[in-house]
Formats: sequence, C-alpha cells, structure tokens
Amino acid sequence: MPVSDRELTQMFERVLTLSKVDKTQSVAVLKSDYSNPRIVRAAMDAAQRLGANVYGVELPAFNHPRAMGMDMTAYCGDTPLTGNIAAQRALEAADLIVDTMMLLHSPEQEQILKTGTRILLAVEPPEVLARIMPTEEDKIRVNAAAERLKRARSIAVTSKAGSDFRATLGQYPTVTEYGFADEPGRWDHWPSGFLFSWPDEGSAEGTLVLDVGDILLPFKTYVREKMTLEIEEGFIRRIHGGFEAEYLRDYMAYFKDPEVYGISHIGWGLQPRAQWTAMGLHDKNDGMCMDARAFYGNFLFSTGPNTEVGGSRKTPCHMDIPLRGCDILLDGEPVVLAGDVVAPEASRA
Ligand SMILES: [Fe+2]
Repeated sequence: MPVSDRELTQMFERVLTLSKVDKTQSVAVLKSDYSNPRIVRAAMDAAQRLGANVYGVELPAFNHPRAMGMDMTAYCGDTPLTGNIAAQRALEAADLIVDTMMLLHSPEQEQILKTGTRILLAVEPPEVLARIMPTEEDKIRVNAAAERLKRARSIAVTSKAGSDFRATLGQYPTVTEYGFADEPGRWDHWPSGFLFSWPDEGSAEGTLVLDVGDILLPFKTYVREKMTLEIEEGFIRRIHGGFEAEYLRDYMAYFKDPEVYGISHIGWGLQPRAQWTAMGLHDKNDGMCMDARAFYGNFLFSTGPNTEVGGSRKTPCHMDIPLRGCDILLDGEPVVLAGDVVAPEASRA
C-alpha cells in the first residue's frame, strides 16, 4: 500500500538517525534522472530536520550499450559517476551520501568509502522501505553471525534438492548489511539484513541445484523446474536443466566474458521482515527486490565481480541467486538447517 510523503520523511529521519546524522554532519543526496523524486525529497527533508548541512549531487543517467533491462544490478562496474572526478570530490566531501542512483559495484564507490564517507543506498519502493525499516536489533543479529563467519575457514551447503557445494574461506572479508551506515567508510543498503563473504579464489567446488521456488536475480523470476549448476575451481562449468537453464546459459554467454562464471559473494539471509513471496507482488521495474536477497534463512549465492573486496574479477554480469531449504555449515557446524537459522543463537529472530 502507498506510504505518505510525511511518513516517508519520518522513516528517513529514523534511518538517518541510526546512521549517526546530526547537526555536525554534511549529507549529500546523490540522484539521477531515474531516481524516485519522493525518496530524494524525503532524504533531503529528513537530513535538514536533523540539522545536517544538506546538498544534492545530480548526474545524468548512463546507459551502457550492452546493458539489458532496467534493473541496476544487471550491469556492474560503470555508473553515471564514472570519470566525473569533480562530482566524486563533491561526494567525498560529505559525511554521509544517500545514494538514490546506485553506485554499487563501481570503483568510484570504493574510492569514496576509503575517504571515510559513509554511503546509504535507498532505491527500493517506499512500501518496501517501510516494511523493512532497519533496527538496532537487526544490527546485533547480523553482527553476531558475522563474528562466526569471520572465523570460518570453510563453508558447505547441501539441500534435499541435491545441492552439495563447498569452498574455503579467509581470503576475503566478511561484509554485513543491516540497513544503516553508522561507521566511517561504511556502505549499507536500506532495506537489507544479511551477510556474506567470498570463497577463496579457485576453491568453490560441487553442485548447486536450484529447486522450484528459488529465485534468479536480476531476472526476478521464481524457478519453475530444477536446474543444476556444476562448479569447479571457483567457476560454473556447466548449467543444465530445462528452459530456465537454457535461458541462464544464453544470458551469461551474451557477455562474452569467461569471468561471468566466477563465484561471487555467498552468505545467508537474516531478515524476518523480508519475504520470499514479495517479488511476486511487484513489477520488475519497481526496484531490485531486496526481499529476495535478505529473507530469513536463504542461502544467497552469486556470480561475477569481486572487485569491491579487492579481487581482480571486473565483469558486468552479476547474478544473485537465493536458494531455500538449504543446510549451511561453517567448519562443519550448522548455521542454517533446512532454510532455518540455527546458530549463532544471537543471530536468530
Ligand atoms: Fe549481489
């Protein structure tokens, strides 16, 4: 249901307060032609009500000729900020950027964060922002799981559908998303509530079987028939099944880049207010469907780039694939069993 402008501003006040915005802070609202004007206005109004110094940075939209579709996760790397040093400096001057445009997966975002500037991405529809308002409790639960993931040296994922996947961990950091940006240099995304890391290069092995009801992003489709991904030495080597496997094979081949088959971030969802069913109630261009990435107990597996944690795979194609009903074990100890979070206790909702 629609959220009123007044309520949206109040929501931004709460999330910006969680993000440590006050009268000592400067807040830049980053926008482009396609930004939701209601979100831009609410972010500006809320930051001003909190006494911050507020300014807007507006960049012309950028469309890569190879990009397909409107989902902003479907083409990674280049953004409207690419090559615009003056705008980058204006953003680096802020304490916090509210990103209504989407800098994710760009080298410029990493450079801005390194200056200590915080970034909060907010591109989902107001209804989704309202339903998945972040809380301090979300942060506590996600951080509890992150403490366990940071110590892990291996991950194994199995399921009744037939998944049998493993990788070693430790080469790359653990990343948390709890919905607000409250530390210097922190990037976060409202709404979220999950965590992830990346397999050590070349270590991901085994089989992932996508079952009926699992989700393919950015296609925003529920899988209707089983599909098998065979993974060797950190790369998907074979994709088989029916029509949906053929579709995925053709989509990934379109990029003509062997790096698209690399395994990217892997982790699990911890957000009980995110819903597996929500995607079916939205149009494809409503947003990027964070419900699917964050819903409680999903195993989120992905492909493609790893540049945001210092890896060398810069590739535009990025698939996020949440699987239901999996067992996830770290160093042989379960954290998720049959799609339910079992440990650490402090991470359970
Ligand atoms: Fe992703």
